[in-house]
Amino acid sequence: MASRSDENWWTFSIDPAVRADNSKSRFTGEMDVNPELPGGLRRLDYHDYLGLDLLLGSQRPSSQIPDERAFIVTHQLMEIVFKLVVFDMAVVSATLGSFASSPRLATDTLDAKPDDGFWRPALTAAARISFACRGLLPSIMRVLSDPSDADETFNSVEFHRFRENLEPASGFQSAQFRLIQRALGKANLLSVRLFPADTYRRLYGEDAGDTVRVDDPVILREDANVATPAQGEPRERAARLEDDANAALERLADVAGAQPDPNGPDAVEAADVNRAIVLLERIMSKGRGRKTGAAAAERFREDLTAAASRENERRSGLRRARAGAYVLRRRAPGSPLRDILSRISAADEALHGTAHDSFLSVHLRVTRERLRQIRAYAAKSGEPEPSIGTGGGGIEYLGWSQRYLIPLFPALVAYRELGD
Ligand code: HEM
Repeated sequence: MASRSDENWWTFSIDPAVRADNSKSRFTGEMDVNPELPGGLRRLDYHDYLGLDLLLGSQRPSSQIPDERAFIVTHQLMEIVFKLVVFDMAVVSATLGSFASSPRLATDTLDAKPDDGFWRPALTAAARISFACRGLLPSIMRVLSDPSDADETFNSVEFHRFRENLEPASGFQSAQFRLIQRALGKANLLSVRLFPADTYRRLYGEDAGDTVRVDDPVILREDANVATPAQGEPRERAARLEDDANAALERLADVAGAQPDPNGPDAVEAADVNRAIVLLERIMSKGRGRKTGAAAAERFREDLTAAASRENERRSGLRRARAGAYVLRRRAPGSPLRDILSRISAADEALHGTAHDSFLSVHLRVTRERLRQIRAYAAKSGEPEPSIGTGGGGIEYLGWSQRYLIPLFPALVAYRELGD
């Protein structure tokens, strides 16, 4: 996915001394976007700076159906916002990592003397992450017509007229979304083999197991390395957000001389794991042949049980971080660190939570409405009823994972359970 065209994107500095000095922060030579020409002339204009040739030349509909243009642009808007969220996560993560290695910054935080220059980029980045997840992403999704809105902005009959041209491509293959989930404390969730690979296997001609992880290359193709960045890749910084936040809290606990909290964050409950399994088994036994359904459910049971136990192991290592979270709330409630962690925590809830306006709730309503309208049309016209989705549990899968699976793996677990 990375290409020359976004080469400068990942080279950023949180160092106040670099940011304050134009000659240090600006790219020069070959990388300079606006070189000075002889006679003091310049070449850069709006079109060039924003790469409009590439950006506005990247909409390739498969049909003459007008609504397909809205469908493409909606997904592209989402991906652009995801890109900024991932970048902002890298800024926050780098800042928390740097805080974790500096006893001075931790002492300043406890003394209510934050270094404004150090914190500024992470504060705005965390605010953008929260704003994107609360506002932009759910709003953009609504272009595909949320039935709670007064006017219909996208129509399912029209949708159905081009949707089958795109098989098996879908938003389910958004690798940046999976990376965001990884950054938000869901690495263990992503390790569960859950999703049926048959459609992808059949249409891409690739071999894979019966069910795969949602970030498996059979689903994500060349973007698999975006969802799971290799060590040293720029996106790996974003993927480490959860770990860097915990390291920052640990540093605070050390400087305050706080003892590890013997309780630590709550464990994932076996009963919740079991409920998720039983409910998925029900969906699977309806959706597939009894034998394949039973085998897939068994694999899911094994993987989710193992993932919950790895998650509990991880949480038991967060007792110092939990102590740091108490120190932060008691001794530095107005600090930049507290604001940043609260914003990240709010972003996770806005993206994955069950509130009416969360990203996944709007997505679910849009999806359900598409199915309802198409069914009604099929019944009226006598045409066969089409499927929605890419061969997984479809809409039932979406509702189930949002309610019973994703909540088992919240972001910033050492920090958020303490309440505001
Ligand atoms: C007409 C609009 C849409 C419909 C009908 C739709 C349908 C679906 C369905 C049925 C699934 C479940 C997986 C599957 O069976 O393929 C899914 C998953 C997903 N879709 Fe959409 N979708 C729509 C728009 C979008 C948009 C605009 C995005 C933005 C990137 C998106 C992102 C996702 C993601 C990230 C998942 C995975 C969710 C998870 O695993 O928790 N979808 N979608």
